[in-house]
Amino acid sequence: MKKGIIFGVIGLVVIGVLVGGLFLGNPLAKEGKKLYSHYCTHCHGMKGDGNGFNAVNLDPKPRDHTDGNEAYMASRTNEELFEAIAKGGAGISKSPFMPPFGAVLSEKEIWSLVAHLRTLHKNKMPDVVLPADAKSDRPKFPRLLKVSLDVPEEIGDDGQPVASEEVKGRMARIGKRLFEEKYGCSSCHSVDGTGGTVGPSLSRAGLRLRQDYIYKWIKNPQAIKPETKMPNFQLRDRDALAITFYLGTLQAAPEGPPEERGGRP
Ligand code: HEC
Ligand code: HEC
Repeated sequence: MKKGIIFGVIGLVVIGVLVGGLFLGNPLAKEGKKLYSHYCTHCHGMKGDGNGFNAVNLDPKPRDHTDGNEAYMASRTNEELFEAIAKGGAGISKSPFMPPFGAVLSEKEIWSLVAHLRTLHKNKMPDVVLPADAKSDRPKFPRLLKVSLDVPEEIGDDGQPVASEEVKGRMARIGKRLFEEKYGCSSCHSVDGTGGTVGPSLSRAGLRLRQDYIYKWIKNPQAIKPETKMPNFQLRDRDALAITFYLGTLQAAPEGPPEERGGRP
């Protein structure tokens, strides 16, 4: 009889822990799940299997966080995952098509994403615990009020100043490389039909958007739209200017047949 009660109590405790675990889960992982669905699923997929709607536009493909085919995620330490999310692919010698979130999310939020990732695949890593010194405030950057789009002065080999249009053209060509290769902006934006579809196509950015707006936006998107999915890349002024000039050169004809654009067929 007594034994029955003891087993009964033990049984209840076990059930309580299991049910509690199911419904409450790790609160850190729960917070991470929400962030994941806002900032990550367009590429990594709702289930984290690497099949978001934007994955077709990416090469390499987004990592399969469920380890469906290979045990890659299981081999990464918690700290390595933190670093990948904070610095992006470019910061860990991987593809820049994985954007950096260290200038957007708080350290606590990034740890919560690591905790969520750990629920998606089998692993033997220690439970994710929030380091005592992890900041819970998001990084803040000043909002740009006035911007200077002056073309920097350059002196040619002959000692004479180079024509500013020529400098601007050269910077625009550098901007194209920064856009496509260094920062991987093409992971979310298409130009002339190539690139991602998370953000708007920029094929007509030079006609649609004012240059000072482009500059302000790319320097600090969160200052204009706090919940945007576009990260702050902490662009240096020179890189931001080069990208602005590049986007200014994008002046494609509107898409669709001419009659839809109000022009003559
Ligand atoms: C624009 C698409 C895109 C978005 C958005 C994105 N990722 Fe990625 N992610 C990638 C790609 C592509 C890779 C593969 C990079 C490679 O293997 O070179 C990747 C790889 C990773 C990796 C593996 C890094 C490693 O060690 O190899 C982690 C972890 C990761 N992403 C987490 C996240 C999290 C968390 C978010 C949301 C906060 C996110 N990603 C948002 C595209 C994206
Ligand atoms: C993770 C996806 C993502 C990445 C990476 C990304 N963007 Fe964006 N971008 C967006 C989204 C989404 C918007 C639309 C604004 C919104 O609603 O959040 C946007 C908006 C813009 C706009 C304004 C477009 C308009 O029509 O108003 C510009 C310009 C821009 N991005 C440039 C860039 C540049 C330059 C880079 C690389 C340094 C970049 N983006 C990287 C997602 C991204």
